[in-house]
Amino acid sequence: MFQRFRRTRLNKHLRALVRETSVSVNDFIYPLFIRSGEGIKTEIASMLGVFQMSIDEVLKECEELKSLGIYSILLFGIPDVKDSIGSDSLCEHGIIASSIRAIKEVHPDMFVVTDLCFCEYTDHGHCGIIDMKTQSVNNDATLEISGQQAVIHAQAGADMIAPSGMMDGIIETLRSALDAAGFENLPIMSYSTKFASGYYGPFRDVAESAPSFGDRASYQMDPANRREAISESISDEMQGADILMVKPALAYLDIVREIKDNTSLPMAVYNVSGEYAMLKLAQKHNLIDYERVMMENMIAFKRAGADIIISYHAKEVAKLLNRK
Ligand code: PBG
Ligand code: ZN
Repeated sequence: MFQRFRRTRLNKHLRALVRETSVSVNDFIYPLFIRSGEGIKTEIASMLGVFQMSIDEVLKECEELKSLGIYSILLFGIPDVKDSIGSDSLCEHGIIASSIRAIKEVHPDMFVVTDLCFCEYTDHGHCGIIDMKTQSVNNDATLEISGQQAVIHAQAGADMIAPSGMMDGIIETLRSALDAAGFENLPIMSYSTKFASGYYGPFRDVAESAPSFGDRASYQMDPANRREAISESISDEMQGADILMVKPALAYLDIVREIKDNTSLPMAVYNVSGEYAMLKLAQKHNLIDYERVMMENMIAFKRAGADIIISYHAKEVAKLLNRK
């Protein structure tokens, strides 16, 4: 039977009828990097096509995204002032809270997801509060202020909170902080399985969030560990996460599949900055058929079990899909 499908593969209608996996513009969340000011749209050298933008430019960007059929965005803030605890992220006048309010006012139909972390807001660039004695992140102190940050996002109008710091117990903490503030229905998308990866390099240029000392290996996961990767995600499900995530995507599709087979929650993959940058540079040097390779990756994410794709390629994919 399948031989017959192969022999008739030149019939594109039959091919479409038996295709197991598809990519749609509805699958995407597009990341945006916001800083204060006006008329700012600065391309990042290591990530062609990705910009730091001021809020007014982000409002225009949302218009374009909607015209492409993309209604979901993931916000990252770059504050004017960084300090040891990331105060800007805990303040209703901070860059993220102000951005959410501005976007929701002009584009109430956008689905606004916020990245909840401290590395963009701290002067040391780590994802939480640093214990000076051990020079490492203090998990429990970070949990306390994470709850505060979640409520700031929620009150500003966020539609979903996405904690990315990989602190132990973060989902439980955020769930109870949000519930206590009256946001029982606000979903949490957990960066539940996040590896300590070299693929985040370009992101740290855009978000200006490279750690000033040490690395993130004490709170992110060892790429060599499969069982640990699965149990981290399942633990977040038990704490009340609504969506699980694997990050990075390409080198970890085995993990995506295995988590998918062990959960009934929707799953996201984060197709990260380094994965994007590699394709972009190969395109620039005419080394690959860029669109073809990009779509191959997108199909691979869906085939592995992802329901949601967070990707810097989202606009290009949408243009391609809309063209057909
Ligand atoms: C912050 C955060 C990072 C990314 C998303 N949220 C960087 C990191 O952990 O260093 C990476 C995204 C990308 O590389 O595109 N915790
Ligand atoms: Zn972080």
